[in-house]
Amino acid sequence: MTETELVHAAIAARNNAHAPYSHFLVGAALEDSEGRIHTGCNIENATYGLTVCAERIAMFKALSEGARKFRRIAVVANNKQLTPPCGACRQILWEFAGDMEIILANLTGPTETLRLSAIFPRAFDATYL
Ligand code: THU
Repeated sequence: MTETELVHAAIAARNNAHAPYSHFLVGAALEDSEGRIHTGCNIENATYGLTVCAERIAMFKALSEGARKFRRIAVVANNKQLTPPCGACRQILWEFAGDMEIILANLTGPTETLRLSAIFPRAFDATYL
């Protein structure tokens, strides 16, 4: 799958976002080591705090389907400033995917590719335990 196709999978997932409170729709597409794509969108809740981000939905869906190794994730919102994963998602992505590639995109074209370690340095993980 090309990077463009992965971004398009994230855009399609974003269309399912349930974001009636923030109106900030996010989609994610996670590619596992076998090339399978696991998508997610943000799902908000009236309590606000129970909201789950697109990235974590994608990762938990993938894990529950048996995927255990991951290559990259595309994250799409409709913001000029490309949207990176929040802190909680960075921790979850690090736990299960390590220093993966993250592709940020919006609906108008520009993308940015970075590694998780660049936005999540000195992560706490199982190596400390
Ligand atoms: N959100 C995501 O789904 N992923 C991100 O990377 C940033 C934030 C969601 C959570 C919430 O539903 C909305 O965007 C506003 O924070």
